[in-house]
Order: sequence, then C-alpha cells, then structure tokens
Amino acid sequence: MTLNLGDLAPDFTAQTADGDLRFHEWLGDGWGVLFSHPADFTPVCTTELGAVARLHNEFAARDTKVAAVSVDPASSHRAWAADIAETQGAEVNFPLIADPDRHVATLYGMIHPRHDSTATVRSVFVIGPDKTVKLTLTYPASTGRHFGEILRVLDSLQLTAAHQLATPADWQPGQDVIITPAVSQQEAARRFPDHRAIKPYLRLTPQPDRA
Ligand code: BEZ
Repeated sequence: MTLNLGDLAPDFTAQTADGDLRFHEWLGDGWGVLFSHPADFTPVCTTELGAVARLHNEFAARDTKVAAVSVDPASSHRAWAADIAETQGAEVNFPLIADPDRHVATLYGMIHPRHDSTATVRSVFVIGPDKTVKLTLTYPASTGRHFGEILRVLDSLQLTAAHQLATPADWQPGQDVIITPAVSQQEAARRFPDHRAIKPYLRLTPQPDRA
C-alpha cells in the first residue's frame, strides 16, 4: 500500500519490546513519528536507534512521540535494546514495535521487494494530531538517516499548523520564514507586522515563538 500525504495513518495493534501498543490511542492528541529499520543487531540500525534515543527531549519539546518498527520479534528487540544502551550512550526510551507477520509493514508500505524481499526499508512517517500523514521519507538500508532533519521538518510543519507559515530551502530554526499565499496582504499586515515583501508572492517574516 502507498500512503500519500494527507491520508489517514493506518491504526494497528502490535507487540512491542515492552507490551502491546494501540497506535492511535498511544499517539493521543500530539504528533507522531513512525519509522522502520531493516533488522535488529545490525550496525546502521543500532546507530539510528541510539540517535533517536539521545533526541528524546527534542521530540518531547515538539509534543511528538516516536516509535520504531521492524519485522523482528519482541524478544529480539529486548535483547538488542541492551546493546543499544551499551554502545550508543542512551537507553531506548521509545517503543520498538515487533512486526514478524508484517502487518504494520504492509499497512505502511515499508517493504520494497526489489530492494529487500523480506526486511523493511528505512521509512519515516510524520503524523499530525489529526492522524493524517504529513511527511514520508524512504532511505535505503545502507544509509542511516539524519534525525536532526526530522526535527527540522517537525518545526516547519508545526509553524504551518499554528501560523500558516512555510519555510524556505535549507531553513534552520531561528531564520526568517515565509508567509503562505493563503494569507492575504491585509491579513499579513495585521498578523506579521514585521514582514517584508520581496515580491507580492515572496513575503518573509521573523519566526514566531513556538505555539
Ligand atoms: C544496518 O543496519 O547496518 C543494515 C541493515 C540491513 C542492510 C544493510 C545494513
């Protein structure tokens, strides 16, 4: 199944290393990141899960819960979590979803058979408070993801949700942001008095504080 931006993120119940998880209920009213990795006890995946564990406070500051999934069983996840803590400088502090029957992987299109016939690729889904898909990313097994980029996208998405603002190429938090075309000139003058219009369609304004 291919999930497009705007689609409802499929709900599921799954085992994790620490018990059962009902996905939508677990997400609650906040944001979510569901990401898959190919396999437990593999080097790139070990560094990725360590990176996410170290960013726990950054995701929490963005009201965002994170869960990882692979086709390995819960017992394997539990054993591997000890290695991650030992080698990556952080305890795994988010759910490790076990998906041996590929239920979640199939719902989210995480297996790309011509890349790997059985293991999940490195998929990322950012899910908004309305449970719809806001971002998808797909990386090959051999490339570890940059989770700072996921945080940057969350910042951008949350600016859009709260203020109808967009972010330019290579934007970093603290830099000026873009007033979307959905905001009229009159409205822009009222809501963003410090903005500057380089062109009528290219209006920049200082980044507001987090909503
Ligand atoms: C890894 O995590 O290192 C990995 C997993 C599957 C294929 C290639 C690399």
